[in-house]
Amino acid sequence: MKIKDNIAVVTGGGSGMGEAVCCYLAEQGAKIVVLDKSENAAVRVANKTHGMAIDCDVSNAQSVEEAFARIKQAHVRPLSILVNCAGVAPAKRILSKNGVVPLPWFEEIIQINLVGTFNMMRLAADQMSQAEPQEEGERGIIINTASIAAFEGQIGQTAYSASKGGVVAMTLPAARELARFGIRVMTIAPGFVDTPMVKGFTEEVRASLITQTVFPKRFAWPEEFATLVGHIINNQMLNGEVIRLDGGVRMGAS
Ligand SMILES: NC(=O)c1ccc[n+]([C@@H]2O[C@H](COP(=O)([O-])OP(=O)(O)OC[C@H]3O[C@@H](n4cnc5c(N)ncnc54)[C@H](O)[C@@H]3O)[C@@H](O)[C@H]2O)c1
Repeated sequence: MKIKDNIAVVTGGGSGMGEAVCCYLAEQGAKIVVLDKSENAAVRVANKTHGMAIDCDVSNAQSVEEAFARIKQAHVRPLSILVNCAGVAPAKRILSKNGVVPLPWFEEIIQINLVGTFNMMRLAADQMSQAEPQEEGERGIIINTASIAAFEGQIGQTAYSASKGGVVAMTLPAARELARFGIRVMTIAPGFVDTPMVKGFTEEVRASLITQTVFPKRFAWPEEFATLVGHIINNQMLNGEVIRLDGGVRMGAS
């Protein structure tokens, strides 16, 4: 699918990889909708990409339904591109010196990362399915963000790994189901990316993670994620697959 003149909705667009995607797709001529829980962040990125800002909690059905109603009202055509970047990554042990971890901790991470991704995907697919088909009958592309923690989660990442594993697992069935509408579904599983999410890592933690990376010996830049998003949009043969973007890293237990 071409990027130019198509409407692209980016969740978590107010920071990190989502922000880089908004900037990249805007440079390529897309009309950007920045969706973020943080209204200030969404407005800041919308201003620099000449886009529309919507404050929205992806994990909440009503909040996302209202966001899609606003998107429909503001544009003459349905969206064609959805990039799901909203996510959280808190870590906790199941059993720590403070006792057993409370269940709501696990539930909240699943609700944002996994249920939130599905919530966006179902409503985007509904609007995309009503669009006029473009080249080869294509109506839309949905790109989700997992993590390499879906495959080799570290100690403390049970909830995060489960949530991202769910995103990986639903990629193929969603692509299979939505194919009849001309909608592709892809997932990117990044390794370590230099964004506000990892700003809290100590130098020691960063060095250990970089040691485990094959090449290049550094964290990825958010722009590298954004250009991969651009490639996936352009390349129609990419569908129902998960692409690791990780410099060959395979994480150890801690
Ligand atoms: N940074 C990394 O190393 C890394 C690695 C692998 C995967 N990821 C994943 O990539 C995605 C983007 O991460 P990032 O590093 O850019 O993080 P970030 O913290 O810079 O940005 C995440 C954005 O999501 C928004 N958000 C959080 N919860 C939300 C909700 N319920 N509704 C709407 N918006 C919400 C935040 O406000 C923030 O703007 C996340 O899904 C993350 O799990 C990050």
